[in-house]
Amino acid sequence: MKKNIFLSRIIPNAGMCKLKRSEFKVDIHYKETPLSPEQLRKRISDVHGLICLLDDTIDKELIDAAPHLEVISNMAVGYNNIDIEYARSKGIAVCNTPGILTQSTAELAWALLFAIARRIPESDNFMREGKFTGWQPLLMLGGDISGQTLGVIGTGRIGTAFAMMSKGFNMRVIYSGKTNPELDRELGAENVEFETLLRESDFISLHIPLRENNRHLIGKKAFDLMKPTAYLINTARGPVVDEAELIKALKAKRIAGAALDVYEDEPRLKEGLTELDNVVLTPHTGSATVPVRNRLAVMAVDNCLNILRGEHCENRIV
Ligand code: DGY
Repeated sequence: MKKNIFLSRIIPNAGMCKLKRSEFKVDIHYKETPLSPEQLRKRISDVHGLICLLDDTIDKELIDAAPHLEVISNMAVGYNNIDIEYARSKGIAVCNTPGILTQSTAELAWALLFAIARRIPESDNFMREGKFTGWQPLLMLGGDISGQTLGVIGTGRIGTAFAMMSKGFNMRVIYSGKTNPELDRELGAENVEFETLLRESDFISLHIPLRENNRHLIGKKAFDLMKPTAYLINTARGPVVDEAELIKALKAKRIAGAALDVYEDEPRLKEGLTELDNVVLTPHTGSATVPVRNRLAVMAVDNCLNILRGEHCENRIV
């Protein structure tokens, strides 16, 4: 009897074609919006492989609803949407898609940094609204970038790539957490205490995975320590930032601005966020380039196929 695979959303064609050409029986939720947890539970009752996305919650209840499940393949590098320990206890493999989106996510973090510091979206709106009446000494003044202090929280693959991209801007790079010899050697970066990073950075960019111990890592205390001229960039996971406190800090101009690609309660935005001028918002598009999304889709499919075929899978987390 053929094993079954369920794919929880439309993904780029390269991945869909590979999946459909496989020897397995495939069921696909042909929509761009996620299934509700209840609908997802129903669809996976007899599957052996589940290919899911970062907004599918794969918790105990869902895992229990799929007694034949052998592999959960997440098309994302982050896997905070999956109860890893429960999957491990049931002997279910969990895979992710690391490496591919490193540069694209680091690039988006830079795009956001420029956008907020140089007020690009605000300027664009201003032009479209026909408000430009001529060069003015006080028009759209932003923050300097070159020569400033760049604080990087999380120097794994993406954080390291992001920091390395600062090379052309002659910045002082500081980071907290584990020592990163590459950054020390290449950029003369300094490994500093977390509080020092908050106090001294002109830009703080978040690149840590979401774990229980870093939920709301950036909250009131952090905003109080940050410079009033500092900017926060988040391309990691929304709940790392206490959004209610962020909104308060932005409103009170306790920090200069924030640029966010991820949100605490995605896809919902906290009330008040869109009313602020000193914030730039993008819809979780760190990996959203055509080549990267194609490669992510193929990798997620390959991970699932490899496990079901009993082959080695290098992206297996558990
Ligand atoms: C991931 O893969 O975890 C990213 O957030 C997707 O953009």
